[in-house]
Amino acid sequence: MKKARFAVVGLGHRGRHMARLAADKFACAEFIAACDIDPLLWEEKQWLQEDALKNIYPDVKFYTKYEEMLEKHAEELDFVFVETGADVHADFCIKALQKNINVFSDIPSVATLAEAKKLWDAQCASKAKLMTGANTNEWGFINLLVDLYNKGLLGEPYYMEAEYIHASREPAATNPILIHSPWRKTLPPIRYCTHSLGPLLRIMKEVLRYVVCMGTGVHINKNALKDDMQSALFQTESGVTIRLLRNGACRAFIGHHSYRVFGTKGYFERVAERGKTPSVVRFQSDEFYGARELTELQVGMMPNEYMDKPDAAGHGGADYALFDHMFKAFLEGAEDFPISLRDGLMMTLPGIYAAKSAALKGEKLTIHYPWEKEFEEDIARIDG
Ligand SMILES: NC(=O)c1ccc[n+]([C@@H]2O[C@H](COP(=O)([O-])OP(=O)(O)OC[C@H]3O[C@@H](n4cnc5c(N)ncnc54)[C@H](O)[C@@H]3O)[C@@H](O)[C@H]2O)c1
Repeated sequence: MKKARFAVVGLGHRGRHMARLAADKFACAEFIAACDIDPLLWEEKQWLQEDALKNIYPDVKFYTKYEEMLEKHAEELDFVFVETGADVHADFCIKALQKNINVFSDIPSVATLAEAKKLWDAQCASKAKLMTGANTNEWGFINLLVDLYNKGLLGEPYYMEAEYIHASREPAATNPILIHSPWRKTLPPIRYCTHSLGPLLRIMKEVLRYVVCMGTGVHINKNALKDDMQSALFQTESGVTIRLLRNGACRAFIGHHSYRVFGTKGYFERVAERGKTPSVVRFQSDEFYGARELTELQVGMMPNEYMDKPDAAGHGGADYALFDHMFKAFLEGAEDFPISLRDGLMMTLPGIYAAKSAALKGEKLTIHYPWEKEFEEDIARIDG
């Protein structure tokens, strides 16, 4: 049986979870090596683990230096999973692609436009490819949205809304997820936009071209290093508009992910749970006589294709779906991965331009992508 041999860099909560998901639930995956600058994450038992990783995976080689891991294992690796902090992915991805090793990179894809250009060029020059770890694209109710759209039941979307609100009760100093994550204190909230934009881009024919964004400044904790809330309006060339709300400090303990889609022939919404009220998915269509009134649909997070699969775990089965689709594409020798680098940049770069717009007090900016000639000129203006 052909194997997908992988290494992971970044053993925070996410990296540990994803490496274990691949190693334990996929017969085709072989865990070869792991890397983190903090060796205790390998050597000592961590939150939610039954034992230290070094004891669970005694045959896996551990490194504190990424370049050394790549050097030693370049010949045998098919994948590197990049699970470092949200603002430091690109350099790890580029180094793997330069050695023709495929990459699974968590989101957001890049932290700057300069990184986007280098990463895009690195993939163009490589025999390997990058899969974007955009797990929300895999959710059951998002697949349902795409199905309704593809069947013509929504018409074309012209206005959409998304919010990702993720309040945390525990202080960063004690929360086992936040404790090792410096980027969580500083990353402008709107930069963490892929969970919201990724699913909506699945039903869009155009890229996001313009943005205005405003931030609240800090009100809850005066020592905070980022806005309590940021709200952006993104627009395509034809005027299709998305409003996105993202939080920094936040005292609203509500469900995380909500989406609304206004189409020319119908409407779709997924409203996250609110207290004791569970999440709900509703749909209405002029094209389907059974749903001319707003109709509730019983579809949750689990993708339909994994309903009967007990192994499907992680964010309602979406993490499992990501790996399953990626490994299948690899084993079948597909042209590209199902969520490509291009897809990742299309859902990441609008957030970088949005953060710049917020810094410029809401100035309207034009968004470009590395495969467009105008992109080069934006690098100094937006990154600077
Ligand atoms: N898709 C999702 O649902 C989801 C959920 C959580 C986090 N994430 C993403 O996953 C990634 C990891 O998140 P996290 O919460 O585990 O972050 P984290 O900051 O807790 O972990 C990152 C790890 O990378 C290590 N690291 C940093 N620099 C390194 C280097 N030079 N060499 C080796 N290791 C290095 C750190 O020591 C740390 O252990 C982030 O990009 C985040 O955005 C995605």
